[in-house]
Amino acid sequence: MQIDVKSAQVIDVYQMLVGLVAPRPIAWVTTLSATGSINLAPFSFFNFFGANPPVVVFSPTLKRDGSKKDTLLNIEQTGEFVINASTEPDAEAINQSSSMLPYGESELTLIGRDTESSVRVKPPRLANIPFALECKLLQIIPVGNGPISANLVIGEVVMIHVNDAILGTDGHPDPHKLSSIARMGGENWCRTLDLFQLSRPK
Ligand SMILES: Cc1cc2nc3c(=O)[nH]c(=O)nc-3n(C[C@H](O)[C@H](O)[C@H](O)COP(=O)(O)O)c2cc1C
Repeated sequence: MQIDVKSAQVIDVYQMLVGLVAPRPIAWVTTLSATGSINLAPFSFFNFFGANPPVVVFSPTLKRDGSKKDTLLNIEQTGEFVINASTEPDAEAINQSSSMLPYGESELTLIGRDTESSVRVKPPRLANIPFALECKLLQIIPVGNGPISANLVIGEVVMIHVNDAILGTDGHPDPHKLSSIARMGGENWCRTLDLFQLSRPK
C-alpha cells in the first residue's frame, strides 16, 4: 500500500509511522512546574544526536485538542529537564506515568516513586534509576500547530548519573545489566536483550 500524506488522516499517518519507525527508545522525563510540582512522563520520540556537546532531542506533541502537554509547558518556563532510564522493571510505572493528569498534579503519586536531587538542574531525577541525564534546554522547534504536531525539545546533557551496577568490566554500559525497553507501534513494547555483534568496517 501507499499513503499520500497530503490526503491522509493525521491519525492514520501517526499509526503507520509509529509502527514503521521502531523500536524507539523512551525518555522518562522529569520536569518542574513554575510552582515546584514534579511532572513525570514518557516520550518515545527521542534520541541522542551528538556528543560534543552531548545533545538529546525529544518531542512532546500537541494534544488532540491542540493544547500543550505539561512537560512542554514546564520546559518552556524553566528551561531544564531530566531524562530517566526506561528499563524493564519499570515498564508498568512508565506506562502509568503517561496518564493525563490536570496541570500541576504529579504522576509520581500514581507510581509511588521517590526522587533525588539533581546536581546541575532543578528538576529531580528518579531514585534508584540505572541512569539519569540532567539536561538544559537549547531550543524548542515547533513543527506544525495542529493535533499530534511535533515540538522538538533540544537539550544539552550537562550531568550523567550511572549506577555502576549496569556497567560491564570495560566500564561501558552492559545491555544485559541495563535491560532497556523501547516502544513499537500500537500497544507493543520491546526488550533489547536479543543482541548480535558486528565489527565496523575500516
Ligand atoms: C511509552 C510511551 C511513549 C510515549 N511517547 C510520547 C511521545 O514521544 N510524544 C508524546 O507527545 N507523547 C508520548 N506519550 C504520551 C505521553 O506520555 C502522555 O501524553 C503524557 O500524559 C504526557 O504527560 P504530560 O502532560 O505530563 O507532559 C507516550 C506514552 C508512552 C506510554
